[in-house]
Amino acid sequence: MKVTYKLDNQSEGRRLEEQSANKNYSLRDEFSSVGVQINAQERVLDAGCGTGLLSRFLIDHFCQEHFTIDAIDITENLLSFAKQESAKNDQYRHRITYMNKSITELCDQKKYHKIFSRFVFQHIPDRKLKTLALKKLWDSLLPGGKMYIIDCFGFFSHLDTPNTWLLEKIGHVENSIPIDMNVGPKLRGMLIDAGVPFECIQTRTLPFYFDTLEQREAEASLWKQRFQNANPLLVEALGELVAKRFVAEYIKEFLDPRTYIYAQKFILTISKP
Ligand SMILES: C[S@@+](CC[C@H](N)C(=O)[O-])C[C@H]1O[C@@H](n2cnc3c(N)ncnc32)[C@H](O)[C@@H]1O
Repeated sequence: MKVTYKLDNQSEGRRLEEQSANKNYSLRDEFSSVGVQINAQERVLDAGCGTGLLSRFLIDHFCQEHFTIDAIDITENLLSFAKQESAKNDQYRHRITYMNKSITELCDQKKYHKIFSRFVFQHIPDRKLKTLALKKLWDSLLPGGKMYIIDCFGFFSHLDTPNTWLLEKIGHVENSIPIDMNVGPKLRGMLIDAGVPFECIQTRTLPFYFDTLEQREAEASLWKQRFQNANPLLVEALGELVAKRFVAEYIKEFLDPRTYIYAQKFILTISKP
């Protein structure tokens, strides 16, 4: 099955960069919560790199260590964005190699000390393909290496609101679109199915905070852009008129301070003996 990124659009690169500047998506917080360390001469894989923001962060953050990164993705628009960013800085340009490749096409001839895959598995369409992708990553990890998989739970659907029309439509959209925004807690089982011993997997969670109006407005801006990019999927699931009303009501409820939103990031650390 040919896998495509359902949010692909000319503006998606800018949205991902806007997202990463938001405290709820802080790479620094994610990495420090699990003690990510990169050493000199290591080989790193950024699997599903998007705009390359994680690769660039690693180079900036661990600037004392000379390591190299292979960054792969299936979306040409995002790879072009990533290459343009790399061209602005010699360190990025010399140390990050971008490739148009799916995780499911990795061959285990080239192995890595560290592997990262962030917000990618929610976009791999079914459990079988996700398990295959996890096996490819596990097979690409060197003995003594570590991989970090970050994805979310509750992100779209855990909105506590009295608006029953919206809740019913959220359920319908969730069941119709090939994106699983609750994939976080499922990754452990899929890793075990992929042949990873359970004692090699450690799970941590980090909450998303939507307490202040500022946090909600920042996230609502991202939702507007996600919905815009995913419009063909919404129209297919709901029809054009209902899709339009759905987006308007979702954003309105999201911004309502009485609405409670419960979402978490799952950060799995997988260590190869
Ligand atoms: C939400 S973006 C996240 C990008 C980046 N990791 C970040 O943290 O901003 C998801 C990315 O996964 C990529 N992707 C989806 N399925 C993939 C696959 N099978 N192999 C490689 N990349 C994939 C998409 O093209 C997209 O760039």
